[in-house]
Amino acid sequence: MLKRSRTYCKMASKKLRVAVIGAGAAGLCAARHILACPDAFLPPVVFEASDQVGGTWVYTEQTGEDAEGWPIHSSMYRDLRTNLPKEVMAFPDFPFDPSLPSFLHHSDVLAYLESYREESGIQDHVRFRWQVDDVRPVLGDQGWDIRATVRGSGSTHRVSEHFDAVMVCTGHYSVPYIPPIPGLDSFQGCLLHSHSYRCTEPFAGLTVLLVGAGASGVDLALQLSPVAARVVLSHHGPPVCGLPEDVLQVPRLLKVAKETVEFRDGSVLQPDVLIFCTGYRYCFPFLPLAQLGLQETDYGVGPLHRHLLAPRHPSLFFIGLCQLICPFPHFHCQVLFALAVLQGRCRLPSAAEMEADAQEQLERYLREGGLARHFLKLKAQQWSYAKELAHLAGFPPLPPAVQAIYEATRARRCHNVSTYRDTKYHLLGPDAWEEVQDSGTDLEDNRKAE
Ligand SMILES: Cc1cc2nc3c(=O)[nH]c(=O)nc-3n(C[C@H](O)[C@H](O)[C@H](O)COP(=O)(O)OP(=O)(O)OC[C@H]3O[C@@H](n4cnc5c(N)ncnc54)[C@H](O)[C@@H]3O)c2cc1C
Ligand SMILES: *[C@@H]1O[C@H](CO)[C@@H](O)[C@H](O)[C@H]1NC(C)=O
Repeated sequence: MLKRSRTYCKMASKKLRVAVIGAGAAGLCAARHILACPDAFLPPVVFEASDQVGGTWVYTEQTGEDAEGWPIHSSMYRDLRTNLPKEVMAFPDFPFDPSLPSFLHHSDVLAYLESYREESGIQDHVRFRWQVDDVRPVLGDQGWDIRATVRGSGSTHRVSEHFDAVMVCTGHYSVPYIPPIPGLDSFQGCLLHSHSYRCTEPFAGLTVLLVGAGASGVDLALQLSPVAARVVLSHHGPPVCGLPEDVLQVPRLLKVAKETVEFRDGSVLQPDVLIFCTGYRYCFPFLPLAQLGLQETDYGVGPLHRHLLAPRHPSLFFIGLCQLICPFPHFHCQVLFALAVLQGRCRLPSAAEMEADAQEQLERYLREGGLARHFLKLKAQQWSYAKELAHLAGFPPLPPAVQAIYEATRARRCHNVSTYRDTKYHLLGPDAWEEVQDSGTDLEDNRKAE
């Protein structure tokens, strides 16, 4: 499988030493493809703050900080099943075990990432318990100095090392975002963010208010409704279809008092628990953003060329900033594009042009009615984005069946959030697939004539 990507490699004058920060899905993908191009790159150095690969998919009962006082990275909860079928979750060059159902328990995804690591031969290149603290460009385009803290047993020490390029793969579902709501500080009930939700038991018999109806808010409503006394879902979107009948949907939260909360329509509730399912903040404490010509923005960080490259430092890449995408296939495309840039196979415009381009793209998005804070939510745009990266960097585009199955899943989820995971998908070829209901009846066959 690695042989194929080797054909994308070309001799570079000097082998580049690339640092990969984070060993979640994005970092593993970066390491795999760097290692597959030994003519152009030295083996990657993967810095991983924790002691295992998998990032988001490493479930732990712990919340807050671990025994050593380090913040818990993962937001995974005990009973999570994926919201995308494995047929579209998979890296394009590494399918899941076909005997598994389409919608997996999180432990199956971690096992998949572990076998991806194994098959890619990257284990020896991951430095576990190395947390990157500082990434600085060396003057005159001379690469990067990375400083890291090494967590030994009992002691920690700091190390500094030089690299030619850096891939930031640190994820963005770790630092909770809680909107400023008047009176929140005065609330005397239990308050948490979905980042710290683990299981249903603590909420048995309680009135739970979930704030936000994104993937987490809706999923927690499904999980909690059988055990809680009452589940109320506050959000501003169209009604969510298929929630259990005892889940009440109400408008946005207006203000909070000691024991009660008030919604935009004036209705009032006395919840025992408030769970904020309001998303996360992008956070790059190890990057001197201003010095790099970047800044924190409403949508995250920018300006970036094609959502991944720092215009003034084209050897610094962010893998996986975008949202509402198929994460693993998206990482795959971004990584192959980044490596093509590093190998000089993909010519970039000047820094000024890339900055102007990024600005123009944002302005167009706003003109078309988008909100700045949603700029990185690609949704339908993800397909043209991936296609363009493939075209520019010269690798095969994602198979059309991935888009088709993604869209079929979305449609089913939109129709009924309680039942969309009952469908099983079969990939039959790059643009052929079928779906089967759990009962085993064929629903539809999308086989195309070869
Ligand atoms: C609750 C939840 C459910 C999800 N469900 C799905 C789903 O069903 N399907 C799907 O495809 N996607 C899902 N996702 C999206 C998921 O985040 C992506 O699939 C993917 O795992 C993200 O990978 P990543 O490598 O970008 O980040 P992460 O998995 O977050 O990995 C980042 C890694 O970087 C390390 N790190 C961070 N900072 C440093 C540092 N300074 N130095 C060294 N190491 C560092 C962390 O320890 C971590 O291991 C879900 C996400 C969440 C939170
Ligand atoms: C969603 O599916 C459930 C379980 O089959 C069913 O009870 C419910 O009526 C469906 N809801 C909608 C809106 O179709």
